Amino acid sequence: MTDQPTTHDAPLTAGDTIDRWLSHPEGSAVIGRLLEGMDQGPDVLDRIRRLPLRTLAEMSQGRLTDAMVEEMVRAVNGGELPAEQEAAPASARFAGRTVIVTGAASGIGRATAERLLAEGGRVIAVDLSEEGLAALRPGAGETVPVTADITREEDIARIVEAAGERVDGLANIAGIMDGMTPLHETDDQLWERVFSINVTGTFALTRAVLPRMLEARRGSIVHTASEASLRGSAAGTAYTASKHAVVGLTRSGAVLYGPHGIRTNAVAPGPTATGIEGGFRSEFAQQRLAPFFAQIPPVTTAQTLASSITWLLSDDAENINGQVLASDGGWSAQ
Ligand SMILES: NC(=O)c1ccc[n+]([C@@H]2O[C@H](COP(=O)([O-])OP(=O)(O)OC[C@H]3O[C@@H](n4cnc5c(N)ncnc54)[C@H](O)[C@@H]3O)[C@@H](O)[C@H]2O)c1
Repeated sequence: MTDQPTTHDAPLTAGDTIDRWLSHPEGSAVIGRLLEGMDQGPDVLDRIRRLPLRTLAEMSQGRLTDAMVEEMVRAVNGGELPAEQEAAPASARFAGRTVIVTGAASGIGRATAERLLAEGGRVIAVDLSEEGLAALRPGAGETVPVTADITREEDIARIVEAAGERVDGLANIAGIMDGMTPLHETDDQLWERVFSINVTGTFALTRAVLPRMLEARRGSIVHTASEASLRGSAAGTAYTASKHAVVGLTRSGAVLYGPHGIRTNAVAPGPTATGIEGGFRSEFAQQRLAPFFAQIPPVTTAQTLASSITWLLSDDAENINGQVLASDGGWSAQ
């Protein structure tokens, strides 16, 4: 026996999920009051119950402030603000390794870059947002920020140059959505923009990195697919087609370069709490897709996706090549 509190009876904090808050008598009362104040019923929590309270605040666009969260935590802890449980110590899977991560200023890309840094990696962190890159949490590794647009040839060259001669991993994570726009409402501009980032940018950076990996006879590439790579009911037409193309890049790369020691896989995220604009711009699509969306599992955190992506990047996934790993809470099993 030990005096250490178990996870089960540890005090509630902002890092705990909505599920844990709801299973705690005082926590569930505090959440109930919050919903009442926002004029919302308990069913709004169905899709977000796996998220930590803090992530909810980050996503709320100011409706749930840090001060409100602190007040909630104090309310369930007799006015105290308890220390949060420390995360397990990071391993060093990426010590001595250089990994390029695109989309590193936000969401899944940021969480992946931070996880690689925590595990000792040298991370070439690429994004349009200089400010977002500057805010990356440092770790045991080294951050090399590169403000760049993956749709521009000269920027691709700068990214590879910043990486240097050795590139052990490439995580193509930058991507945009399409407002759930159906084909007949998709103009050329939207189609080309979505393809230029999600497909051509991914292709161009991979093409630029491959010679280094071929020379080293090793490397791990992870593309970012989507549930929209696996079905027709998860997004609009341009996004769905672009993410199906990412699967093509993955399988072709796996076959061509597997014998040279280079693995190519993709992760297919389900709903994930990030900065991506995932709303409907089309009433037509909203009506048609609503019944499918009602079946989607709860939203997860970007950190969960970072776990899947870094696993694929790491030697732990040594025997995995050409796979599209659905990291989606079970959506793809439906
Ligand atoms: N969030 C989800 O629910 C979800 C689900 C399935 C797939 N995905 C995929 O995951 C990936 C990451 O998305 P996220 O949800 O973290 O989004 P996000 O918007 O939070 O982050 C995307 C990042 O990519 C950057 N970016 C966009 N265009 C770029 C360009 N041309 N050059 C360089 N950087 C660029 C943005 O500045 C942003 O920082 C995307 O490929 C997306 O399609 C996300």
